[in-house]
Amino acid sequence: MPLTRRHFLAASTALAALPRMAMAKGQTRITAAPAQAQLAPPGYAATEVWAYNGTVPGQMLRFVQGDTLDVQLVNGLAEQDTTIHWHGLRLPNAMDGVPDLTQAPVAPGGSFDYRFSLNDAGTFWYHPHANSVEQISRGLAGVLVVEESEAPDVDDDRVLVLDDWRMADDAVIHPSFGAWHDMSHAGRLGNYITVNATPEHRQTVRPGARLRLRLVNTATARIFDLRFRGLDAWAVAHDAMPLEVPQRVEQLTLAPAQRTDLIVDITAEAGDEAMLASVEREGTFALASFPVSGAALAARPEPSALPPNKMPSLNMESARRVPLVMEGGAMRGLPEGATYEGQRMDMRALAEEGQFWAFNGQVGMDDAPLLEAFEGETIRIPITNNTAFPHAMHLHGMHFREVLGEGFGPWRDTILVNPNHTREVVFNAHNPGDWMFHCHMPSHQMSGMMNWIRVS
Ligand code: C2O
Ligand code: CU
Repeated sequence: MPLTRRHFLAASTALAALPRMAMAKGQTRITAAPAQAQLAPPGYAATEVWAYNGTVPGQMLRFVQGDTLDVQLVNGLAEQDTTIHWHGLRLPNAMDGVPDLTQAPVAPGGSFDYRFSLNDAGTFWYHPHANSVEQISRGLAGVLVVEESEAPDVDDDRVLVLDDWRMADDAVIHPSFGAWHDMSHAGRLGNYITVNATPEHRQTVRPGARLRLRLVNTATARIFDLRFRGLDAWAVAHDAMPLEVPQRVEQLTLAPAQRTDLIVDITAEAGDEAMLASVEREGTFALASFPVSGAALAARPEPSALPPNKMPSLNMESARRVPLVMEGGAMRGLPEGATYEGQRMDMRALAEEGQFWAFNGQVGMDDAPLLEAFEGETIRIPITNNTAFPHAMHLHGMHFREVLGEGFGPWRDTILVNPNHTREVVFNAHNPGDWMFHCHMPSHQMSGMMNWIRVS
């Protein structure tokens, strides 16, 4: 009997209902190397990019919770060392991909094997942790999806990678990677926004369709302010970790490196269009459009929570408080100077070194960590932003929650702290090792906003 579309649909529904099982797969090789991508609209030349396995975003990795990730990184770049950092993964420290902190950098022609088990389900991404401004800006970023063993009931599950590129008129990536203006101001903002490396994601949907949209911000500096039209949206996870209760959202801020999983129900009618849009200074732009057509699907009850990942407990009574104060950058500077590579330096001397920012008076990494925690200790870090710019602070290896009075915000691995604000995070130092704690705007990271913590 020929397989008709109806049969195909019936078959795929049946498959989706089965629990997905963890499987042992072979090793995946991921080569970081130059490639070409048609980023600009037709009529423009293709753009020379750096890519994981030839595509931007890089090769999509999909696993099921409980699988083992087994990836060999091959460095096919001509002149630069690289690594892969698995952003948001609670993994063994040796797999974290930070050059000179957790592994030796991978030289051109060299390789490194990453192997660890995927205990958490969710939306993650991977990127280099070497010369990140240039390597990420040239296109090295990929998404890692770890599916829940019981998937939620949706008609489609889509990854939308939001990015921006700084392009010259001829669709060439602008080589201003070390620009002091970007470092000392809002970072390397692009002039060309893409979704999955295209100007706009377009996808036809049925009226009433329910979609899971996995939004990932891989931009190096752009903070997306997202709005919706013709759909009802619920946030069900931030930075891979499910919310206890799905939260209805009308607006969503997505800072660099952050992810949000949305469940959306299309409310626009056939012939109309649902939309995900980004509010920019120049106006509001569609990032994803969903033309609606066909027969309406039956309405579903409100989405339920995703199955939780196993999170550690937070012991607020015995928690230790380690404040972090961010200073520097244009407008405010470092009037008291700061310590860089063991030397107390004034602002002008620091600027000559291309350094503009400090955490607690320390510019960049030092031999001593920002803090040493014992395994299982609860640590509270009030992060005070005394600079004139927002910063997206990211902790490796463990997730934190924001302290909100007596309660907590969602589990996250990256938090946006606006100028003149303090946001206090708390985490259980459950994962032994040396972990980076830095601003995820790489222009800031390389010019001072980078430190580390030790858990032992
Ligand atoms: Cu997304 Cu230090 O990393
Ligand atoms: Cu920053």
